[in-house]
Amino acid sequence: MSASLDHAPDWTIPQGWEHYTATEHRTWTTLYERQAALLPQRACNEFLAGLTALDFYSGGIPDFRRLSEKLMRLTGWQVVAVPGLVPEEIFFEHLANRRFPAGNFIRRAGQLDYLEEPDVFHDVFGHVPMLTNPVFADYMQAYGQGGLRAEKLGRLPNLARLYWYTVEFGLLNTEQGLRIYGAGIVSSRTETIFALEDLSPNRLGFNLKRVLRTPYRIDDFQQNYFVIESLQSLLDETVSTDFAPLYAELESLPEIAIAAIEPGDRVFTRGTQHYAATH
Ligand code: PHE
Ligand code: FE
Repeated sequence: MSASLDHAPDWTIPQGWEHYTATEHRTWTTLYERQAALLPQRACNEFLAGLTALDFYSGGIPDFRRLSEKLMRLTGWQVVAVPGLVPEEIFFEHLANRRFPAGNFIRRAGQLDYLEEPDVFHDVFGHVPMLTNPVFADYMQAYGQGGLRAEKLGRLPNLARLYWYTVEFGLLNTEQGLRIYGAGIVSSRTETIFALEDLSPNRLGFNLKRVLRTPYRIDDFQQNYFVIESLQSLLDETVSTDFAPLYAELESLPEIAIAAIEPGDRVFTRGTQHYAATH
C-alpha cells in the first residue's frame, strides 16, 4: 500500500526519470502547452522569467538532476524526488536547506484538471519557476525554518495558512494589474482564470495576522485570494516578525469566517461567493 519502506530517512527517492513512459512525457507537454498559452499577462513577471530560464518545454518531464544543476547556479536550490506528500517536519527540513521536495509521479491523461495529491507538474511547473527568484528563494527557506519553529510551538495549523495564501494561492499587485505567483494557481488551467477573473472570490490585501486567522479550502477553488505588494515586502515582513508572540495572541482571537471581509481589509474585489454557494 505504501512505499514507505523504500525511501531514505529524509523521504527522498530516485526520480527514476528513465522510467517515464512516452504517454507520461506527453501529459507533461500537454499541460505545459495549456499553461504556457494562458500565463502571459496573468502570471507575474518573476514567474514567467523563471519559466523561461528553466526551459521546461523541450524534453517532457524534467530530469531533476539537470533541473537542480540549473537552479543551483541561479539561487542555490535543488529539487529532490519524494513519493508524494511527506511528513511536515521532513518537508520543512528540506526547505530550510534549500531543497524542494517534488512528487515524481504524473497525473493520468484522464485527470488533467483535477488531482488530489500534488504531482510532478504541480510541484515542478508550479513551484520551481519562483525558486529561480532570489527573493522568493529566500522566503521559501525562511518558511522552512519558521515551520520547524511553529511545529515546536504547536502552531502549525496557523502557519500553514501563510503557505497556502502565499506560496500556493498568492496574487501580486503590479502596475499592470493583479498577477499570479501562487503555484496552486499557475499549475491549474481552471483556477488561473478563476483566481483573476471570476466575480466569486474576495481579493484582499495581504495582512499577516489576518491570514494566520483565515481558514482555507483544500477541495475546491479558493474563496479568498490575498494580494501582496511585492515579493520583497513579503520576505521582509515575515522574516522580521517574531511569530511566537503572534501565535500567542492568536489563541485569544476568534478565527475569521472563511469568506468574511473584516473592517481593516483592503478590498481589491468583494466577491459574490456565488461559486462557493453552489459547490
Ligand atoms: N519569522 C518567523 C518566525 O519567527 C519565521 C518565518 C519566516 C515564517 C518566513 C514564515 C515565513 O517564526
Ligand atoms: Fe504545492
